[in-house]
Amino acid sequence: MNPNLSRLQAYPFERLRQLFATVTPNPAYAPVSLGIGEPRHATPALIKDAYCKAINDPQGGLAVYPATAGVPALRASIGRWLQRRYGLELNTNTQILPVNGTREALFAFAQTVVDPSRRVAPDLPPLVVCPNPFYQIYEGAAFLSGAQPYFVPSDPARNFGQDWDSVPDDVWARTQLLFVCSPGNPTGAVMPLTEWEKLFDLSDRFGFVIASDECYSEIYFREEPPLGGLEAAARLGRTDFKNLLILTSLSKRSNVPGMRSGFVAGDDALIQQFLLYRTYHGSAMSTVVQAASIAAWDDEAHVRDNREQYRAKFARVTPLLAEVLDVALPDAGFYLWAKVKGSDTDFARDLLALYNVTVLPGSFLAREARGFNPGANRIRMALVAETAECVEAAERIVQFVKSRA
Ligand SMILES: Cc1ncc(COP(=O)(O)O)c(C=O)c1O
Repeated sequence: MNPNLSRLQAYPFERLRQLFATVTPNPAYAPVSLGIGEPRHATPALIKDAYCKAINDPQGGLAVYPATAGVPALRASIGRWLQRRYGLELNTNTQILPVNGTREALFAFAQTVVDPSRRVAPDLPPLVVCPNPFYQIYEGAAFLSGAQPYFVPSDPARNFGQDWDSVPDDVWARTQLLFVCSPGNPTGAVMPLTEWEKLFDLSDRFGFVIASDECYSEIYFREEPPLGGLEAAARLGRTDFKNLLILTSLSKRSNVPGMRSGFVAGDDALIQQFLLYRTYHGSAMSTVVQAASIAAWDDEAHVRDNREQYRAKFARVTPLLAEVLDVALPDAGFYLWAKVKGSDTDFARDLLALYNVTVLPGSFLAREARGFNPGANRIRMALVAETAECVEAAERIVQFVKSRA
């Protein structure tokens, strides 16, 4: 067996299952879950209609093998979206590639980029730099590529951003890949241009690749949409996007996590190698999904509506919780990342037992690195259910926190 498999840790939801194994939730309350970050708003009809129509297409449907690069019409549709959203003009043949959601692409991209034989010393494997807390795939992708993760903590004093200056040069010298998550999961933090500039300088100096995970980019609460990685590069005159790839998907933007559709875009040299990898890996997107994706990327009305639903929900829930928890409206995303008194796992377990509400302990989303776990004493609440259910959960949490004081 591949020895790196043994380095994979239990996924947070498995750890949650173990944590709750001996808990009996209070039957006086209906269960409400703020645990899993799965979008639950309705899938727009225009996407379902395009999907059904494509299944019955006599020229395609399910009867053809799709090409790994996708059909030109999909790449053109994504190109138009990048133009509308960020003002970017990408070459749709060389700088854009469809993927089956960001999860598989994040994982596969590390396998494409990392060269485990390139080491500064024989006993020092390459590093993949990740935020902490982080989307768990980054760590698994690092291990399976033969690298080690190096975690940079999210700092509440910097709007939950990372202090990149705290990373020593000998770490950057071993770094082959850096995962950025903006807007962040679980913090919702959007990385500002000054931080991008810093990372581009470091990438130029040390030669590492930046993979920017941007799948929450369309769920934001203020007027200005989150800055994207390619947008930041273009603003700084880096129009070749050297060593930079963004990854995003329709899952959250269009409420289709089950469709598995997204794309990567950026440096054409990286795209070319990634396309080669994917051809062998066998990760082409079904032409039916491609047709539905074109309908989704070409439409913004449903995205505005989706955003409004989240805005209304956060406007109701955040002030309620702020009464008893250290929590504030994030830049973007659909999570509240709250500080709690005492252990986050005790909080989650007791909340389930007394009020039948599920939240995710923050320590499950982070690793202890250099002496501390930046997720400890925090909880993540995913506001994915309908507003009434989220408000009900918030009211129970308020009662719970008051009862513990
Ligand atoms: C930060 C982050 N990246 C990537 C993903 C994967 O999403 P998808 O594969 O549906 O694009 C998720 C899903 O929750 C996420 O939270």
